[in-house]
Order: sequence, then C-alpha cells, then structure tokens
Amino acid sequence: GSDDDLRQAAKLIREVPDFPEPGVLFRDISPMLADGAALNAVVAALGRGLEFDVVAGVEARGFLLGAAVAQAFGTGVIGLRKPGKLPEVADRVDYDLEYGSATLELPADTLQAGQRVLVVDDVLATGGTLDAACRLVLRAGAGVAAAAVVLELTALGGRARLDEQDLRPLLSV
Ligand code: PRP
Repeated sequence: GSDDDLRQAAKLIREVPDFPEPGVLFRDISPMLADGAALNAVVAALGRGLEFDVVAGVEARGFLLGAAVAQAFGTGVIGLRKPGKLPEVADRVDYDLEYGSATLELPADTLQAGQRVLVVDDVLATGGTLDAACRLVLRAGAGVAAAAVVLELTALGGRARLDEQDLRPLLSV
C-alpha cells in the first residue's frame, strides 16, 4: 500500500551531521529521489486527492519533485527561482532568513490568474521559502491548492509562517 511505500521511501533520506554548519543535522533526500519506487511513492503522495491546474516547484530540489508531480498528474510546471536567473520576472518576493534574506522570483508568462497551484518543495524548515512561494502565487491572483513538502522539520516551527495554507508534509520529524 501507499503508506508502506512511503515508509520505505523515508528510510532513504540520509542524515548528515554538521552540514551546512556544525550542530545542524542535514536531511538529504537525494538517495530517495534516486530510487524509482521511492520517487514514485513520494510523487503520488504529494498530489493525491488534490485539484490543481499547475505545479510550482521551488529551486532547487523542488524542481525535481515539482516536474515529476506535474508529469504524473498531467499539468505543467513553473520553477520559482532564486534571483538573477530569469530573463523576465513577473514578480519577486523578498523574505527573511535566520541570518540575512533571500528572494524568490516568478517567471514571466507562466502563472495565470485563477489557476489552482500545487506548491512543491523538499523540506519545510523555518517556512520562509514556502511562505514566499505561496505569496507569489496569491499575488498573481492564483490560488494555492496545497503547499506540499516531503519533510517538515517541526522543531523550526515553519508551519506557523504559512497562513491558512493547506500544508501537506509527507513526513514530519
Ligand atoms: C532549502 C530547502 C527549502 C528551504 C527550506 O533550500 O530545499 O527550499 O531550504 O528552508 P526554510 O523553510 O527555512 O525557508 P536551500 O536554501 O538549501 O536551496 P537549494 O534547494 O537551492 O539548495
């Protein structure tokens, strides 16, 4: 069944101590993505039962997942990008990180007002990135069908930063 497939997939997430800095336990989904059965289970679970017209994946690991989800559910995909990559930008959102700030950009001529968007990323940590992604969607006059992530790191409280969004974590640790 799908729960069992997801449990198997979860075992393929690598825990790497002291990355990117001392004291941080980094969870690397690369081995999970590299496994066909695991990728299949994760992709199906990210979109299951939701109504959406397009997927928005967040750079960079959200691109891999987002494109796979879009293909599986027959929609297009939009890459929400870090600054300086896009030739034409429809909108940008700046947001705060623990130290410093970051920006996400929506490519021109992609998202249409009224579309229902499935926002996809790998990990919810402080929530700044997913919140910024959802704000880009809403500011375009589109709707967030859900904000779906493989992994929620609950200790960082990121879920509180997402107002009223339908957060869908496949796993919470
Ligand atoms: C990671 C992760 C999420 C974000 C989550 O991306 O893939 O996009 O951080 O963190 P937050 O909830 O605190 O905002 P990262 O910045 O490492 O970029 P990358 O995917 O391009 O490596």
